Amino acid sequence: MRHAVVMAGGSGTRLWPLSRAARPKQLLDVVQDGDGSGDGRAHSLLAEAFARLETLLPAERIWVCTAARYGGQVRAALPRLRPDRLVLEPVARDTANAVGLAAALVAEADPDAELAVVSADHVIRPVERFAAALGTAYDALSARPRALVTLGIRPTAPATGFGYVRRGAATEVPGVAEAAAFKEKPDRATAEGYLASGEYLWNSGMFVWRARTVLDALAEHLPASAEGLARVVAAPAGSARDAVLAEVFPTLPKTSVDYAVLEPAATEPGRVLVADLEAEWLDVGSWPALAQTLATVEGNAVGGLAVTLDSAGNIVFSDDPEHLVALVGVRDSVVVATADVTMVCPVSDAERVKQLLAAVEERF
Ligand code: GDD
Ligand code: MG
Repeated sequence: MRHAVVMAGGSGTRLWPLSRAARPKQLLDVVQDGDGSGDGRAHSLLAEAFARLETLLPAERIWVCTAARYGGQVRAALPRLRPDRLVLEPVARDTANAVGLAAALVAEADPDAELAVVSADHVIRPVERFAAALGTAYDALSARPRALVTLGIRPTAPATGFGYVRRGAATEVPGVAEAAAFKEKPDRATAEGYLASGEYLWNSGMFVWRARTVLDALAEHLPASAEGLARVVAAPAGSARDAVLAEVFPTLPKTSVDYAVLEPAATEPGRVLVADLEAEWLDVGSWPALAQTLATVEGNAVGGLAVTLDSAGNIVFSDDPEHLVALVGVRDSVVVATADVTMVCPVSDAERVKQLLAAVEERF
């Protein structure tokens, strides 16, 4: 049967100081009316990702994988998530291990499961396009049961924070091609070449495969992870398994599924497929990305209470409805105010927020 898992354990460091280790971006109510409910309330990216999947699947086949420390917040954000569908990692070891752990548990519940893996930090409009593309990707598994299918997006910029998939030969499924190559996070010059060639799509970070297939791929390309995960699921569910998980998981090689599985698998002809996702798609990973979801007021992207005079090109954010951010004569800057941190940087340095965080990590 068809299942899906939302990867929701990232820490969202480039959205600091809004996103914190204790409350990362996917759990913040930053999306305006994101679930299409029309109630006008802000929603979290995670709630939006879950609601998106519910257009295709019943809640009992939607899983969420996150770090144990976020378990309580995830339950509170997702009242329809079944308790036994919440997969908790004792520590974050990146998506190769998160995907592997989720796939092992899904396969235990349903050995023939077809499993979609989606991110918790995306805005996708309209939801119907997402549902159609995911449906097509599941369909591709009927024709190619061993395939690793990624949803691809037509790129609009030489972004270096994404993976790139080269579209190869068409398959028997309309809208699905073989991937001729996969490159995770290329350098700027390479990304520019990919964009100019017109042959590459962005990897959306959303995949469809049989749970067993991705476990086999891990065994092939990241055997230490596959062996550790096999030990975990060999233990009986409950406290015995939790104990093995706590012991083994922190020792697994920390890497993403893109580097560990997609890059090497794409060198094998026909193993990786790419399904077109033709929708408005945004990875809300940084301040300039989040700015695209904010209101534009007098040439500035504004979230919360702000007043601007003679200022343009700024991203202004206040997370307290009582706390006013006021700018005069300021250009192209990110200005973020939270209860305990005020952060200011040029928009062009927004990616460096991560470095800044490294310097203050322990306290903030
Ligand atoms: N459970 C769990 N555990 N989830 C995680 C972990 C982890 O250790 N690390 C990250 N995640 C979640 C994040 O919350 C997010 O929803 C998703 O996995 C992807 O992680 P990111 O850290 O945001 O990855 P990225 O944006 O750098 O790159 C990925 O996504 C791009 C598109 O958004 C890659 O798949 C790229 O190839 C892709 O282009
Ligand atoms: Mg991301």
